[in-house]
Amino acid sequence: MYLLLITLLSAVAALLLLRPRIRLPPGPFALPIFGSWLQLGNAFDQHDLAALSRRFGDLLLLRMGSLNISVVSSPALAKQVLLTQGKEFGSRSRNIVFDIFTGKGQDMIFTEYGDHWRRMRRIVTVPFFTNKVVQHYRADWEAEAEAVVADVRRNPNAAVEGVVLRRRLELMVYNNVYKIMFDKRFESEEDPSYVRLKSVNAERSRLGQSLNYNFGDFIPILRPFLRGYLKVCKEVTRRRLDLYKDTFLQERRNIASTKKIEQNGVKCGVDHFLEAQRSGEINEDNVLYIVENMNVAAIETTVWALEWAIAELINHPEIQDKLRAEISAILGPGHQVTESDTTKLPYLQAVIKETLRYRMVVPCLLPHMNLHQEKLGGFDIPAESRVLVNAWWMANNPAHWVKPEEFRPERFLKEESKVETTGNDLKYVPFGVGRRSCPGIVIAMPVLGITLGRLVQNFELLPPPGQSKVDTTENNGQFATRILKHYTVVMKPINNA
Ligand code: HEM
Repeated sequence: MYLLLITLLSAVAALLLLRPRIRLPPGPFALPIFGSWLQLGNAFDQHDLAALSRRFGDLLLLRMGSLNISVVSSPALAKQVLLTQGKEFGSRSRNIVFDIFTGKGQDMIFTEYGDHWRRMRRIVTVPFFTNKVVQHYRADWEAEAEAVVADVRRNPNAAVEGVVLRRRLELMVYNNVYKIMFDKRFESEEDPSYVRLKSVNAERSRLGQSLNYNFGDFIPILRPFLRGYLKVCKEVTRRRLDLYKDTFLQERRNIASTKKIEQNGVKCGVDHFLEAQRSGEINEDNVLYIVENMNVAAIETTVWALEWAIAELINHPEIQDKLRAEISAILGPGHQVTESDTTKLPYLQAVIKETLRYRMVVPCLLPHMNLHQEKLGGFDIPAESRVLVNAWWMANNPAHWVKPEEFRPERFLKEESKVETTGNDLKYVPFGVGRRSCPGIVIAMPVLGITLGRLVQNFELLPPPGQSKVDTTENNGQFATRILKHYTVVMKPINNA
């Protein structure tokens, strides 16, 4: 009996000793099965993660049910994750809802790092993300911004009661993106195909950004409680993909079959995607998922950023005046901001940078993932961890910035004048940096510049009647920080702009 016990104990001791030692990052107390979910709940955002990093350090591990979430909060560790070990941490962690939205990673944004991602990114880059594309479409972006200005000027209510400008800007951004993707433009907010499109995309956004489903993502045994929710996600996905296919792709196919589709040497996005499908590089589902990705990544982010920027300009009239004065001094009267002007207007650039710092729309980047166990900062990161880079905290941490709680564009002309949006300094990465960084930066920056520049040139932007400020309460979702209330803006036309 004793012999048996001793043998058993020795076997257990040998197993423990021989087991590879793994040193996990620190983090909150975790129970079996539930992990730290009972303490942290479903809805933790970049602010909560920043508070945790102050407690546990710049690398911490949250054990949320069966999911390991590593949170990185320093520029040095972010550099490791995004650049030095960019390959190892270059996959994406999808949650149960995004598994549905992306057909388990048949898309580009939420797919693992590897051949499929490389192929998809190459196919999308040619029609979307080169300087040639920017030069080809810049006149359209300028015309779309001009159309916004003209519509607002025509609306007598705009200067008195005000308008929910976001709605018109959303149409503008849809037009910018659909022009590149489908060579298509929606005439008005009432256009029936625009109404349908906006409605399914909004539904997808609401379902995807909600934090309420986290429990089922973290704790598989609770998933049955999400059955109804996931069913709706599947239905919405099917409706969206059908709409892209039957309406927009089909329309383009019809045009392609009747006339030559090259226009000034640039085909539109889907022509490239369909060509890649014909050559067998990707399949039809991949084409639809690229379209789905662009509907979200390209449109929502830009609209959110515009909405934040305008809110800050309304709430800081002295900054708005200074911006208007810069545009007027540099461009002179009668000249409307163009794409090439945007880089000649340092204060305009500073306002955009400060908006993306202070109101970072994708605050923890999109979730990265390591397929295998990796070393990071002296700790072991278990395989298939969700890796969140708290970019918002790095850009708002008083250890790296002077009075980060102030909205002060001047910082980017003074002490931070060398810091760019491209990630040359890891404390400021609103578009990420490295392999999985945002390729859309080449479109987003000029579109933000043209639009904000023209709005400020043409209007005095004011809070709604009876209010001294716009309410800037945040609405934090899975990946995005949006403004909670779509505010009204009183827009007083400026003549001789
Ligand atoms: C203000 C506007 C925008 C912001 C703040 C933004 C931000 C980001 C961020 C933070 C990421 C994730 C980076 C990472 O995980 O390391 C990302 C990824 C991405 N963005 Fe953007 N983005 C914006 C506009 C756009 C536009 C206009 C497009 C397309 C035209 C676009 C296309 C994409 C794509 C395709 C990815 C995924 C890249 C990949 O996984 O390989 N984005 N964006």
